Amino acid sequence: MGPKVFITRAIPENGIELLREHFEVEVWEDEHEIPREVLLEKVRDVDALVTMLSERMDAEVFDSAPRLRIVANYAVGYDNIDVEEATRRGIYVTNTPDVLTNATADFAWTLLLAAARRLIEADGFIRSGEWKKRGIAWHPRMLLGHDVYGKTIGIVGFGRIGQAIARRAGGFGMRILYSSRARKPEAERELNAEFRPLDELLRESDFVVLAVPLTKETHCMIGERELKLMKPTAILVNIARGKVVDTEALVKALKEGWIAGAGLDVYEEEPYYHEELFNLDNVVLAPHIGSATHGAREGMAELVARNLIAFKNGEVPPTLVNG
Ligand code: DGY
Repeated sequence: MGPKVFITRAIPENGIELLREHFEVEVWEDEHEIPREVLLEKVRDVDALVTMLSERMDAEVFDSAPRLRIVANYAVGYDNIDVEEATRRGIYVTNTPDVLTNATADFAWTLLLAAARRLIEADGFIRSGEWKKRGIAWHPRMLLGHDVYGKTIGIVGFGRIGQAIARRAGGFGMRILYSSRARKPEAERELNAEFRPLDELLRESDFVVLAVPLTKETHCMIGERELKLMKPTAILVNIARGKVVDTEALVKALKEGWIAGAGLDVYEEEPYYHEELFNLDNVVLAPHIGSATHGAREGMAELVARNLIAFKNGEVPPTLVNG
């Protein structure tokens, strides 16, 4: 019997099959999140864990798992893991970059275009029977949205996903601004992107897309002050983490017209319900599905397995975050 891995949710079968060749594998099959007390029980005799972004991996879990040597997060973001604590205990932490970059960038654009062109409102207008009831086939002022082509996009966070979003913006003839902790001269050249401090980016952009990891620095980085810097015609897209934005400030901004609209894939708590926000017409909502394509999720499953197999073979896991 090989070392034991516990997978906290049914990831795609390709990853589980790969892991079964090298590990004794147990999968939490319930589609709901594993209750915390059950997780603490399950980890008692495991050498490796595959975890989801919705599970907090902290000292309490590590204390309950004396044999644990590696945590492979099934996500590129790993703000759910206390990496410092893991490192202190000699526990490896890995994530799933690259394999979900294009799917997530595509989805940022899905939200951006849907919000700009009021797609959800338009869909509701038809489904509710309102179009037929009004009896107007076509009107020059019906459901007018915002131009995208040739406008300015401001991307906050210029890592793999931020740059993939910028690459797509080239096809829309857009001026590309970005802000990040450090300037990225090579990406600037390749993508024809201009660096801006955050405040300037917010002032100049027609579309602001958040693609930063959640850290102490990015927590609530978009609040009332920042939203007021944006153009009243601008649209905010968040595919990063909900806690990057102050939700109450965003609701005010959308209601009072400080900005024109928003596209959200992530929320401060998940699952989430916010009556006031969700009743607004100028926000497009998705339940954290940025990487939810068959290809990306299978790629993530394979990468998780490759990380664990490398670890078992005494090699450095390919996408180690605390090396
Ligand atoms: C991630 O990977 O961090 C996304 O939020 C989900 O795929």
